[in-house]
Amino acid sequence: MKAIRWSLERSSLVALFVTTLGVFICTRFFYISLMDTKCQVFTPEACSGSTRNLETGPEAMYIPLNCSMGELSGTCPANYYLSQVSAEAPSSCPDYFSWIYEDLSPWRETGITREMVMKARRTANFRLVVVDGKAYVERYSKSFQSRDSFTLWGILQLLRRYPAKLPDLDLMFDCGTLPVIMKDTFRASNYPAPPPVFAYCGNDSTMDILFPDWSFWGWPEIRIKPWQLLSKELKEGNTRTRWTDREPYAYWKGNPNVAATRMDLLKCNVSDKQDWNARVYAQNWGLELKNGYKQSDLASQCIHRFKIYIEGVAWSASQKYIMACDSVTLLVKPIFHEFFTRSLMPLKHYWPIKDEDKCRSIKHAAQAVGKAASSFILDDLKMDYIYDYMFHLLSEYAKLLKYKPTVPEKASELCSELLACRAKGLEKKFMVDSLVGPASTQPCTMPPPYSPAYLHSVIERKDNGMKQVDTWEREYWKKS
Ligand SMILES: *[C@@H]1O[C@H](CO)[C@@H](O)[C@H](O)[C@H]1NC(C)=O
Ligand SMILES: *[C@@H]1O[C@H](CO)[C@@H](O)[C@H](O)[C@H]1NC(C)=O
Ligand SMILES: *[C@@H]1O[C@H](CO)[C@@H](O)[C@H](O)[C@H]1NC(C)=O
Repeated sequence: MKAIRWSLERSSLVALFVTTLGVFICTRFFYISLMDTKCQVFTPEACSGSTRNLETGPEAMYIPLNCSMGELSGTCPANYYLSQVSAEAPSSCPDYFSWIYEDLSPWRETGITREMVMKARRTANFRLVVVDGKAYVERYSKSFQSRDSFTLWGILQLLRRYPAKLPDLDLMFDCGTLPVIMKDTFRASNYPAPPPVFAYCGNDSTMDILFPDWSFWGWPEIRIKPWQLLSKELKEGNTRTRWTDREPYAYWKGNPNVAATRMDLLKCNVSDKQDWNARVYAQNWGLELKNGYKQSDLASQCIHRFKIYIEGVAWSASQKYIMACDSVTLLVKPIFHEFFTRSLMPLKHYWPIKDEDKCRSIKHAAQAVGKAASSFILDDLKMDYIYDYMFHLLSEYAKLLKYKPTVPEKASELCSELLACRAKGLEKKFMVDSLVGPASTQPCTMPPPYSPAYLHSVIERKDNGMKQVDTWEREYWKKS
């Protein structure tokens, strides 16, 4: 299995903006030149919704790991979850939570049977069963790197955060890079419903159920901290350089060898003959490792006005880091999506770059675009919402189960202690750093499902945004 490679910035990664900074930016804002209409396209939406506190909500109480038992006997300490915590009333979830209904729609009519779940075992790395608020895991195969451990860690933190709130459930998780359930294979004419597989990404021809990837809890192999901590550092880094003081280039750094489209991007690099306003660099992880990752330090600031996001083998975990930066994201038209990225809109959250004409697209963007806000990533993708997304996804999934989950014979109980007490080095550090206690608020309330008409309008708006940019681009190249 291939690693996901990604374009981790040398000196950047930055920035969640603080609310006040966001408002400040919004008022001064954006499109420096060209048409006023573009400014209106970018401004109002980018500025809305930025009044909430970006910090993670307070936890009701801190419960340390109890390693006195787990480490020695391999069992979980008794009573490691509180049974109930009183909590404040909920707020409403961000819009992208509605995709939960879409992802689960293949089973809306049929429900999910034990047979369907067992069919999903074929590619799964582990099976997770929750019974009476406790997690039981049966591992089938080791994942690449520590993906499986950190995904399980995330689920265990969810159980600590909302003790006794999650329904009983039974699921198969595939930690691979590519989605596995093809729509074509599981046509309704032959199958009542596909095997339900939880995975990290999908595309228009797949039906995997999308779950937040491990990197939200940390990625020790390449020293990416848990999102909770990283986002705080980024927020600070972002305030260091004003947008107008940044390098007027579109920056990318990553491993080009994993995808043809990335190799193609290299052609847009500056040369003696041509300057497309792109500065692209090949990431050498071997060298970084030798040099102690000094070149990929995420705590430093964004120094370019534009950052390019381009897919590798599939989705890339770098997207949230790139978009959190206080720069305009130039997004090369992707094929794959993560759980939250289907709600990203061209001109609102990013500037679209044509896959088949990258260099000219980038050059045009660098000339035309001012500054864009990244409030979606900063606000709607904070850790509280990651847990709430998992909570609602698993709760909705559990509602579809046609049987009462029981603990499988070969599964054993898993708790935070069993994972973290034995872990070593950065793995241990990241787990301890991302440990959570019971929340002092209820999970947010779900938005209603998208109606078919609304879903259609989302697609249309996306199309229109891209067409608009295409028109601007054509005009620009005609004139020059
Ligand atoms: C840790 O777990 C053990 C075994 O369940 C228990 O006896 C002990 O009191 C716990 N320690 C703390 C600090 O909770
Ligand atoms: C979507 O993902 C599947 C499964 O990994 C892959 O075979 C397919 O080529 C992808 N679709 C596109 C359009 O690339
Ligand atoms: C792109 O150009 C810059 C500046 O000349 C250079 O340092 C860099 O190595 C080039 N990138 C690649 C992938 O060749």
